[in-house]
Amino acid sequence: MQTDFLVIGSGIAGLTYALKVAQHCPEKRITIITKAAADETNTKYAQGGVAVVNDLENDSFEKHIEDTLIAGDGLCNKEVVEIVVKEGPARINEIIEWGAQFDKDPEGEYRLGKEGGHSEFRILHHKDVTGREMERALLEAIKKAPNISLLNHLFVIDIITQHHLGYLVTKSTPDICCYGVYVLNSQTSRIEKIVSNTTLLATGGNGQVYRTTTNPSIATGDGVAMVYRAKGRIENMEFIQFHPTALYEAGKRGQAFLITEAVRGDGGILRNAAGEAFMERYDARKDLAPRDIVARAIDNEMKISGTENVYLDCRHMNMEKFKEHFPNIYEKCLSIGIDVAVQMIPVAPAAHYSCGGIKTDEWGRSSIKNLYACGECASTGLHGANRLASNSLLEAMVFAHRCYVDAVNTVNERSSLPEIPNWNATGTAEPKEMILITQSLKELQQVMSDYVGIVRNNVRLQRALKRIDLLFDETEGLYQTTTVSLQLLELRNMITVGYLITKGAGFRKESRGLHFNTDYPAKSELVQNIVL
Ligand code: FAD
Ligand code: SIN
Repeated sequence: MQTDFLVIGSGIAGLTYALKVAQHCPEKRITIITKAAADETNTKYAQGGVAVVNDLENDSFEKHIEDTLIAGDGLCNKEVVEIVVKEGPARINEIIEWGAQFDKDPEGEYRLGKEGGHSEFRILHHKDVTGREMERALLEAIKKAPNISLLNHLFVIDIITQHHLGYLVTKSTPDICCYGVYVLNSQTSRIEKIVSNTTLLATGGNGQVYRTTTNPSIATGDGVAMVYRAKGRIENMEFIQFHPTALYEAGKRGQAFLITEAVRGDGGILRNAAGEAFMERYDARKDLAPRDIVARAIDNEMKISGTENVYLDCRHMNMEKFKEHFPNIYEKCLSIGIDVAVQMIPVAPAAHYSCGGIKTDEWGRSSIKNLYACGECASTGLHGANRLASNSLLEAMVFAHRCYVDAVNTVNERSSLPEIPNWNATGTAEPKEMILITQSLKELQQVMSDYVGIVRNNVRLQRALKRIDLLFDETEGLYQTTTVSLQLLELRNMITVGYLITKGAGFRKESRGLHFNTDYPAKSELVQNIVL
């Protein structure tokens, strides 16, 4: 199959880009492919909202820029921060035009929320299900675009480059070029090729590399792993953001329900096992300090008390307002026997967001020709060492726009596609035991959580690398000899991502933002991005 514009991923980044290209080029065909149901994305689970300056009486671009730079702990690209903050309002207006609704007060003014690290109330939200609302609006708009095809349950295995034409491709090969992708059709189990002169990766995050995460099961870092295998540039993978307050449910692995930071913005207070409000001992901003600080404080409190969680106390809050702003959280807590009006919510940090990823320039261009990346899989320079809350939906929209502008302006300059070979599956047989895959995944998640989590040190990182190397060898053996399955492909990608996070953490000989190494507790004077 051939298409003019190929989009991998149906979250906010992929859908926004596709809609814009489709509107600008009605004669061109845009194909979006996604490995699961169309709306099964990190986007759908976003709660708190979108940070954007819209109340110029009380807020300003300068303040939002400053808050982003402070959270990023010296590593943000200031030019990119300015781009995202200043172009944000225009992008929000577009998604509102496409049908997304944000909460307003009876006077018709937007109700603005506040989260950790923000100096002002500037977060637009739709109750506590902002991402669901944005995803809904985008999918509705996509349905109305006649030149967009949205194909579900197609798993991209790899991007096609000169390597697949038989050439040797290394990190120093100039002009590595993307010609499309190989995909596993989960319904037919066949591997197909989809070729295109212009490909966008919008494959989202990688939280599933850890034992507990706020991310859904699709978040396995596939785009990053593919680009690394294709010898593209990957940046700052060590900056994994742990959300301080995922709902703690004893013994649960995988996706954890999020208790949005907006609850603390509205007055929720963190308490330790002894009932003490502890945040003032860690930071003057208390419960609304940036996430890295709050997550480390909770981690420390849990280590001191030997417990697996702390508590979020909302009992003093106005319950009518709580139910109005956070109906989903209220219902979820009730469903597991917690009435937030009388009981505290048990919470613990969980892997939440990948600040690094596929290195791009200010137009979303990756280091591979004809390949763009945006959304959570990309590293644009906005987040630096720690993402400011609610900046990622904004970044995804701003960079989807920028990728679109560059892609449509340059599409006619691209050379014609070479002949692309079919996928070669000779020498492979049906896998005999799924346990070889499921157990390796558990091991990877264990190693990452225990050795490459919120607090790191050199011994833990060295141990983690050794174990990841072993998992890599074993899984690569399976990949070479068995017919591929979705589980095997995801495991392979997660091992690569685990390796990149650990390797990046090892190279960073300092503590900065989300990366905290007890062997190097201070920030280095050398301000650098780690590019792998
Ligand atoms: P996603 O929305 O994750 O979409 C990824 C897409 O790629 C999916 O369609 C997936 O199927 C597809 N895909 C992946 N791999 C493959 C493959 N191999 N083949 C084919 N398709 C593939 N950010 C905020 O700014 N504000 C918030 O309030 C907020 N709250 C959050 C709450 C939760 C619980 C979570 C998990 C995240 C939250 N975030 C928030 C972060 C934000 O939601 C994400 O960073 C953002 O939605 C990512 O969008 P995306 O388009 O890059 O990726
Ligand atoms: C939240 O609602 O707490 C998550 C916001 C974010 O991750 O930006």
